Amino acid sequence: MKFKSVNPTNTEAWKKLKAHFAEIKDVHMMDFFYQEPDRNEQYKIKWDEIQFDYSKNRINRKTLELLNELANEVGLKQAIQLQLEGYNINLTEDRAVLHTALRDFDQMKPEVKKSLQKMKAFSNSVIKGKWKGFSNKAITDVVNIGIGGSDLGPKMVVNALQYYSNHLKVHFVSNVDGDHVAEILKSLNRETTLFVIVSKTFTTQETLANATTIKNWFLKDASQLDIEKHFVAVSSNIENAVNYGITEDNIFPMWDWVGGRFSLWSSVGLSICCAVGYSNFEDLLKGAHEMDLHFKDEEFTNNIPVLMGLISIWYNNFYNCETEAVIPYNQYLEKFVPYLQQAVMESNGKEIDRNGIPVNYQTGAIVWGNVGTNSQHAFFQLLHQGTKTIPIDFIGFKEPLHGNQYQHKLLMANFYGQSESLLKGTYQQNISNIYRTFKGNKPSNSLLINQLTPKNLGSLIALYEHKLFVQGVIWNIFSYDQWGVELGKKNANKILNS
Ligand code: F6P
Repeated sequence: MKFKSVNPTNTEAWKKLKAHFAEIKDVHMMDFFYQEPDRNEQYKIKWDEIQFDYSKNRINRKTLELLNELANEVGLKQAIQLQLEGYNINLTEDRAVLHTALRDFDQMKPEVKKSLQKMKAFSNSVIKGKWKGFSNKAITDVVNIGIGGSDLGPKMVVNALQYYSNHLKVHFVSNVDGDHVAEILKSLNRETTLFVIVSKTFTTQETLANATTIKNWFLKDASQLDIEKHFVAVSSNIENAVNYGITEDNIFPMWDWVGGRFSLWSSVGLSICCAVGYSNFEDLLKGAHEMDLHFKDEEFTNNIPVLMGLISIWYNNFYNCETEAVIPYNQYLEKFVPYLQQAVMESNGKEIDRNGIPVNYQTGAIVWGNVGTNSQHAFFQLLHQGTKTIPIDFIGFKEPLHGNQYQHKLLMANFYGQSESLLKGTYQQNISNIYRTFKGNKPSNSLLINQLTPKNLGSLIALYEHKLFVQGVIWNIFSYDQWGVELGKKNANKILNS
């Protein structure tokens, strides 16, 4: 089986899509609704506890057919299989890409099983107060020290699953800005705080600087021998972690086949286990695995990540949209967009294709956004009446967690009301004031999920992971390296040492 390397613009499907675009680019979506009276139901996928509504897009049956042809012509099916079966598809780093193997309980690698058991035992003993600090007190605070994928994923999940959290307070230090770590330390007690140094490489400047500041702070009132009661590490570089002073027993493993931005499912998720308990973490993994199976087995025409990826290509490469907004109508998902920004933009911000040739088409969309309804009072003006077309993903939940049905009704009225207004605008209404007219025709997807549970969150994250892979395959780029961040790091070091 071969991972094809096809310039998408040279495919037959691309040519047909171009001609098709010329035909429909100015059609108002409302006309699609008139032409297809059952569009609401037809452009909807119900999967598990997620409903994906893609009816409010500037597409019709023909568009979907041609996008499907494009996916087939570039070999998307084989690419998915190759990734999930662990081939070295990350050629520029000569690695497999197997974050999906971290959540497959049926065929789990023994080293993954062992690592999960270690996480379970450790987090249980911290939560139950059996793990004691140097003065024999139980742990009250956990600090995750990491950056990029060693911060954004666990931070987002800990925040998103706050409802399920226990008594432990979990903090995150990432920025090399010394004021960040100083602010966190202000509230902490050395005797009852546990520090988790998370770094796949254990060479990252920011993480090591923060860890050292914290270690020095800790040693002001504790001894070297106390370190093993308060410092643990997550890394694939055991040697560096040991040399740094972490007891080998306190090191949780990571593997080179797990990319940093896809690592929350690994022992990078240790702070998640501490915050919400191991069984919720396991549910998160199981939800992600269910999405993996959907992605692997479902026909493209009914496959949510595939459709989301293809529709996004349609806007990026035919409508020349530069950005996409993601708006979760859920305060717990406040950190979802920053997490997605790394996942999507570090993966697909590439200008050289898989044949080593500069691309002659646009790749990686810029992802931005914030939670609804706050966003409505900030930047929605531009979405409604600005000159740019910005496709949006609305994410909402049928049931609230705390049971405030009245406010949930308000929240969801906004969720539905915004996508409807963006679609319809003031279409065919005679508004005399030009400033109060809305063209509508602004595209959006809606993901409606039963409730924010660990399992559903796992599925949602995996959905976006697969979407970005679909796009990388079509753009013919290597989604799993990140050489683009190296030059800046090198130059910062040069400046530091000059
Ligand atoms: O920013 C580049 C990057 O390599 C990310 O991909 C990664 O998540 C982050 O740095 C942190 O790396 P590490 O876990 O090795 O400290």
